[in-house]
Amino acid sequence: MNRGLFITIEGTDGSGKTTQIRNMMEHMSSLGCKVLLTREPGGTRISESIRSIILDPAYTEMHNVTELLLYSAARAQLVEQVIKPTVAKGQTVICDRYTDSFFAYQGYGRGLDMDMLEKITTTAIDGMMPDITFFFDLDPEIGLKRRMTAAAGDRIENEVMEFHRRVYDGYKELAAKYSDRIKTIDASKPVDEVWKDVRHQLEMVLGFIRQV
Ligand code: TMP
Repeated sequence: MNRGLFITIEGTDGSGKTTQIRNMMEHMSSLGCKVLLTREPGGTRISESIRSIILDPAYTEMHNVTELLLYSAARAQLVEQVIKPTVAKGQTVICDRYTDSFFAYQGYGRGLDMDMLEKITTTAIDGMMPDITFFFDLDPEIGLKRRMTAAAGDRIENEVMEFHRRVYDGYKELAAKYSDRIKTIDASKPVDEVWKDVRHQLEMVLGFIRQV
């Protein structure tokens, strides 16, 4: 049986990922693909419990190393329990955030040592790297304004704007470094145009997969 596709979705907070993920799910299902949507941190009972600790705005005292270990623990559980078995069954997995979030937020944002992040990630994901990643490129100031008017912020969203800017610049560096895997989508365009760009990229990948 052929292995399924593993797609990850990335971007700063409020970059419009959710709408586009919904479009992707509908589109792929209409093409007859079996798709499972999950998210990070989260996607399993254990990882969702870890998520509620990580994002709780009351935990302002959380140490950066605690944060990085919690994200990694949630990831290890999701990979083992959901991503690996689903992809092995030949189904597609779409994951809202994954390791690029880790490098962007804990690496560039928090300034933690990249080699250390790399080592922990290697253990947590056990070889499960995405086949393709969509990076929704939107200035964090615009995204957060959008997000914060909708609801109160979580612990990460409540970070200062300089933090979000470092995360954004980090994403841009990652996208340039791994340009074969990471497809940058201009998320400042109107929603319909963003979807056109996403669909184009998605169909290129699906077409490529069908040929092999
Ligand atoms: P979201 O799922 O609503 O986007 O919230 C997840 C938050 O966690 C978001 O602000 C990005 C952040 N995050 C990290 O800091 N590191 C990580 O490894 C992941 C997956 C997310």
